Amino acid sequence: MSERIQAPRGTYDVLPDDHAARGRVLRVAENVLERAGYRRIETPVFEHTELFARGVGASTDIVQKEMYTFDDAGGRSLTLRPEGTASICRAYLDHGMQKLPQPVKLWYHGPFFRHERAQAGRYRQFWQIGAEAIGSDAPALDAEAIVLLATVLDELEVGGLRLRLGSLGSPETRAAYREELQAHLRAHADQLSEEVRSRIDLNPLRAFDSDHPGTQAVMQTAPRLLDRLSAEDAEHFAEVRALLDAVELPYEIDPTLVRGLDYYARTVFEFTSDALGAQSGVGGGGRYDGLIAQLGGPATPAVGWAAGMERMLLAAGDAPIPEPMVDLYVALDGESTARSQGFRIAAEARRAGLNAQVELAGRSMKGQLKQASRLQARYVAIVDDTGQARLKDMDAGEQQEIPHTDVVAQVLRGRGLR
Ligand code: HAM
Repeated sequence: MSERIQAPRGTYDVLPDDHAARGRVLRVAENVLERAGYRRIETPVFEHTELFARGVGASTDIVQKEMYTFDDAGGRSLTLRPEGTASICRAYLDHGMQKLPQPVKLWYHGPFFRHERAQAGRYRQFWQIGAEAIGSDAPALDAEAIVLLATVLDELEVGGLRLRLGSLGSPETRAAYREELQAHLRAHADQLSEEVRSRIDLNPLRAFDSDHPGTQAVMQTAPRLLDRLSAEDAEHFAEVRALLDAVELPYEIDPTLVRGLDYYARTVFEFTSDALGAQSGVGGGGRYDGLIAQLGGPATPAVGWAAGMERMLLAAGDAPIPEPMVDLYVALDGESTARSQGFRIAAEARRAGLNAQVELAGRSMKGQLKQASRLQARYVAIVDDTGQARLKDMDAGEQQEIPHTDVVAQVLRGRGLR
């Protein structure tokens, strides 16, 4: 026997039983977002590598280590999308959406790819639901986006939720702060982890994320970006907070909140859930006012978020999953006439809107009846070679003998559909 081929590490199959819960997450998000004026968009799963290198940022872990990049047959470098925001901005520009009334509000759902260390809640192919609002710098748009994600998570009954909120200020403030932080890190270089030390030049902010004790001690006394915001950025942040207060959405200010993507400016936020293990981030996002210009478009402010399908499912409350209802099970008690009539009855029943199953596995009559009861079929029609059918009403325990051409009409009447 040949060796069996396994699914790639960090991927998983979405099995039939999994779809009800995923469908529920998708429906909840769709309802919440569409009610707030977001419209669905889909972009390709692969893009030019340059889009992410420029959009997500060359110094990020995502671009440096986690992208699935390949050359196509034409020698172009393509990448399986590690996130959605850069693609949405590209589509916004490609389709001239700056000419639409602003802000343009878009939402999406689909698979994303990162070559990360696979573990519970962390996959190499995972699904995100995301929302992007492009074309306004109003703090109300930030607050609205945050409230919408909170509403989605709330409706899904995601437990133990915390909202962390921060502001990264403008690129200029951040650049000045970065130098100040680099100076602080260099002054304490001997206490830092090897990794943080090697990234002082490239990405000093990530030092806040380190779990290395020496680095953590150094970061305790590090300057905080929130204390360095310009008056305008501080006011923007204060307004976002005031609006969250107005709807009584609790949050914690986290001056060390760093996100793994470079495009953020001003507001950043992350929802975590205690119901999850180490990978506690359910969803997050922020403002990315410089991204569209970085992709060659006009300066266009924007804000958005994405939430992981798997993590929402792990942390969500259990909703009752309805069993698929089988209206009619067609059992075969004969040879070719029974087979062809059974096939015809099932096709007719489905056209009439019923859920119908016909015996396909060559079971004995006993086996067929067992299968019908396993499926909790409401009616069973036993078709023989004479053109007659015995129709059993499984709830009432009654049986009648009718021509096979009457079976579907009879079931429809029984189900109150005719
Ligand atoms: P992100 O924080 O990288 O942001 O990802 C958002 C969410 O996707 C995470 O909170 C997590 O739930 C899920 N996620 C990320 N990586 C994985 C993984 N390897 N396995 C399972 N789930 C994962 C973004 O992607 C930004 N594009 C969000 C955004 C939109 N910012 C502005 N607009």
